[in-house]
Amino acid sequence: MTGAEAATLLYDPRDPATIADPYPAFRLMREREPVHWCAPLRGHVLTRYAEVRPLLGDPRLSADRITPFANALKPEERRGAAALIDMLTRWAVFVDPPDHTRLRRLLNAGFTPRAVERLAPGVRLVVDRLIDKVADQGRMDLIGDFAYPLPATVIAILIGAPAADIDLFKKWSDDLAGFVGSAVARPGRRETAARAACDMAGYFRDLVAERRAKPGDDIIDDLIAARGAGGALTEDELVATSVLLLFAGHETTTHLIGNGVLALLKHPREMAKLSAKPELMPRAVEEMLRYDGPVMALTRVAREDMEIACKRIGAGELLFLMVNAANRDPAAFPDPDAFRTERDAPNLAFGFGPHYCLGAPLARLEAKIAVERLLARLGPIEATGPAPEWQDTLVLRGMKEFRIAFRPAPAASKS
Ligand code: HEM
Repeated sequence: MTGAEAATLLYDPRDPATIADPYPAFRLMREREPVHWCAPLRGHVLTRYAEVRPLLGDPRLSADRITPFANALKPEERRGAAALIDMLTRWAVFVDPPDHTRLRRLLNAGFTPRAVERLAPGVRLVVDRLIDKVADQGRMDLIGDFAYPLPATVIAILIGAPAADIDLFKKWSDDLAGFVGSAVARPGRRETAARAACDMAGYFRDLVAERRAKPGDDIIDDLIAARGAGGALTEDELVATSVLLLFAGHETTTHLIGNGVLALLKHPREMAKLSAKPELMPRAVEEMLRYDGPVMALTRVAREDMEIACKRIGAGELLFLMVNAANRDPAAFPDPDAFRTERDAPNLAFGFGPHYCLGAPLARLEAKIAVERLLARLGPIEATGPAPEWQDTLVLRGMKEFRIAFRPAPAASKS
C-alpha cells in the first residue's frame, strides 16, 4: 500500500460517512498521524491543538492561497477568472502582513463594540419575526425557516441593503462557496463563482457610490470613513470587503445556530439546564462553537521548508488546520466529546492570531439571542424526520435542512 492510499483511509472528506460525522476520522488522525498527508486534498491535515493554535499565528505560513492557485491556471482560465481572483486577493482573510495589518486596522472601525451593540435590537426583532411566522405551525425547518434567514437579514441591516435582497445574497454566497469553501475541485465551480463575483462587485460598487453621495449609519459608512496610517480603503478594497462580510458572516452563523440546536437536542439535560438558566447562554454558545463549530478547516501555504511534529513540510505545500479536530483534542479539553453548557475553555472556532474572526462579537450576539428566544418561545423542541443531511464542503460544517417540532402557540404571543 502506498503512502497516499494509506492516507485516504484516515481521512477522505468526500466520504459520505465522514461528511455526516468527521469526528472519528479526526480522532484517528490526532492519535496516529497529527500531520497527515491527505491525497484527495493534496495537502497536510493537522488535527492537534498543540500544532493548530500556534500555526495560526506562525509567519512561516501564508494565508494567501489565491496567488498560488491563480499562478497554476492556464492563461485562458486565468482570464475567465480575473475578476474573481482580483476580488479574492483583496479579502483580508487571504492577505498577509504587513498589508493585512493595514487592512485589519481599517476594518476594525466597522466592528467596534458600539457598532455591534447598535445591532442588538434589530437582531432581536428579526428573531422574533421569524419565530412569529412559524409559531402556530408547531414545526419548521430550523435551517430554511430560521437559521438561514436570520444572519442573511442581519447582514443586510449591517450593510444597509434592502432585506428583499437576501435571496440574491444567498445565491451569490452559494456560488462563491462552491469555489472558496471546496478544496476538492468540481467542474464548473470556478466559472459559477466568477460570475457571482462580477455580479456582487457591481452590486456593492453601486451601494458604495450611493453611500458616498448620501451617507447613512451602517458599516459601509464606517468603512468609507475609516482612516489609518496608510490612508483610507480603496474603492476596490471597499467592494471586496463588503463581499467578504456578506460571505463570511452569513452561512457560518447559520451553522452555529443549526449545529448548536442539534447539540442541545442530543443532550436534553443540557437543554433543560439552559432553558432554566438563560444566563448560561454566553457559555453555551462557546460550547456550541467548540463542540461542532461551523468552520472546520483553515487553509495555509508553507512559505519555506519546515518540520512540524516530526513531519517534513515543503515550501509551497498546503496545510489544512482542522479547528474542529483541535477543539476536540483531549490534551486541551477534558472529556472533549461531552457537550457541557457550563464548560469554560477558550476554543479555536473563530481562529487565532492575526486573522481572528472580525465578526465574532456579532456571531455570538446573533446565536445567543436566537437560541434564547427559540427556547423561551417554542421550547420544548424536538427533532423530527430523517437524520439531517450535511453539506459536503470541507471548510464549512452545517446541515442542509433540519426539521424540528414544538408546541404550537398563537403566532402573536411573545413570552
Ligand atoms: C459563527 C460564525 C462565524 C465563525 C465560526 C467564523 C469563523 C471565522 C474564522 C475561523 C476566521 C479566521 C479565518 C482564517 O484564519 O483563515 C474568520 C475570519 C473572518 N470573519 Fe468570521 N466567522 C463567523 C462569523 C462572522 C461574521 C458574522 C462576520 C462579519 C459580518 C465575519 C467576518 C470575518 C472576517 C472579515 C474575517 C477575516 C478577518 C481577517 O482575516 O483579519 N465572521 N471567521
